[in-house]
Amino acid sequence: MDKLAINGGAPFLDSPVDPTALRAMRFGQEEQDALARVVNSGVMCRTFGCEAEIYERETAEYFGTAHAVATSSGTASIHTALAAVGVGWHDEVIASPITDMGSIIGIIAQGALPVFADIDPVTFNMDPAAVEQAITSRTKAILAVHLAGSCAGIEELCQIAKRHGVIVVEDVAQSWLAESGGRFAGTFGAVGCFSTNGYKHIYTGEGGVAVTEDPELARRMKLFMDKAYNRTGGSRNPEVFAMNYRITELQAAVGRVQMGKLADIVVRRRQIANRILSALNGVPGLKLPVNPEGCDHSWWYIILRADREVTAAKAPRLAEALDAEGVPAWTGYCGGRPVYLYDCFQHPERSFFPLPPLGAAGSIRELYPAGLCPVAERQLGEMIILPVCEHYSDKQVDGLIGAIGKVCRWYAANEPTANRLSQH
Ligand SMILES: Cc1ncc(COP(=O)(O)O)c(C=O)c1O
Repeated sequence: MDKLAINGGAPFLDSPVDPTALRAMRFGQEEQDALARVVNSGVMCRTFGCEAEIYERETAEYFGTAHAVATSSGTASIHTALAAVGVGWHDEVIASPITDMGSIIGIIAQGALPVFADIDPVTFNMDPAAVEQAITSRTKAILAVHLAGSCAGIEELCQIAKRHGVIVVEDVAQSWLAESGGRFAGTFGAVGCFSTNGYKHIYTGEGGVAVTEDPELARRMKLFMDKAYNRTGGSRNPEVFAMNYRITELQAAVGRVQMGKLADIVVRRRQIANRILSALNGVPGLKLPVNPEGCDHSWWYIILRADREVTAAKAPRLAEALDAEGVPAWTGYCGGRPVYLYDCFQHPERSFFPLPPLGAAGSIRELYPAGLCPVAERQLGEMIILPVCEHYSDKQVDGLIGAIGKVCRWYAANEPTANRLSQH
């Protein structure tokens, strides 16, 4: 068995795969032309231009929804959607403990309480049973976070929401073009919210966009992201308090080009991920992600785990060993803890925002103790993230497959689980 690079052996890959460097390949002449068009027009603000409006129209058409509203970020898009559906003071919103703070901050900003439902240990998305259990008379919405390119059991979540009369807002920041039953993630709930930040399938520097069928929600989102100003000619007299979350014409113009590339990006990511997963199927010591039937993953990244029946090697050690071989794998997703264990929940007295009403709890910390979502806490320690990039060459994909196989086989043989050892 080849000596691991981490132990002084030769790395499997001649040069490490660097998805960050490869991401520079995402922009080409088309984006440059789009930017030049905006710069030459002298109009960078959406109020006076047409790019943002066209971007919205094209995005809505793409998803087959009646409306789309662009925003300055994915965080802004989720906040805008939550405000539009009426989330406010005294409400609760059920969310995943494994996500970006961009999912959560809009809930707090609206004066509502995030309620965390534990995850399914296999899909890493919220466990629908835990979501249903978390529903109370204060629950206004379920924020369905689709993690990593997956579909978050969205049909079941929508059924639960319907049974209890609550609204579903989808956080599709990581799951552009993921599908459930042939339908795009983001088109099941009242609103689907996307991000175009620098790590996502498509990229506009920063940006977000929300899709909806509902004309009134679209109207409210347009008000919320634009200080509730009337842009169609009437006098300035905002009907509600609202933010400035406007996207710029520059971002929107790039967004239009990137939307044109999206399908090819996802096709290539699927090819790469499927090749990696089928080649690694059966490698001892390795657990591959399980994609529920009917879900078409769009592979923002692949979540790998050690098979605990085979090896005792800890995830950080495995990620280090993979990294030494030239694989861009890492652990410590979400900083290695569920979001409710962040300082902002544990030391809420420092909050920029007034804290939401706490119900029966005496303090916000009481609501978010360690152990609140045990599966999420345990699985975060097991998650090994393997980024997928549409620009990986076939040679690099072969290298990743070979290196992951080498590392997993080594640990399966040399650091087996204790009871497996005793069986031999
Ligand atoms: C699941 C999820 N939701 C929301 C966001 C927030 O998006 P943005 O960074 O564009 O505000 C992110 C960004 O990483 C995300 O991954």
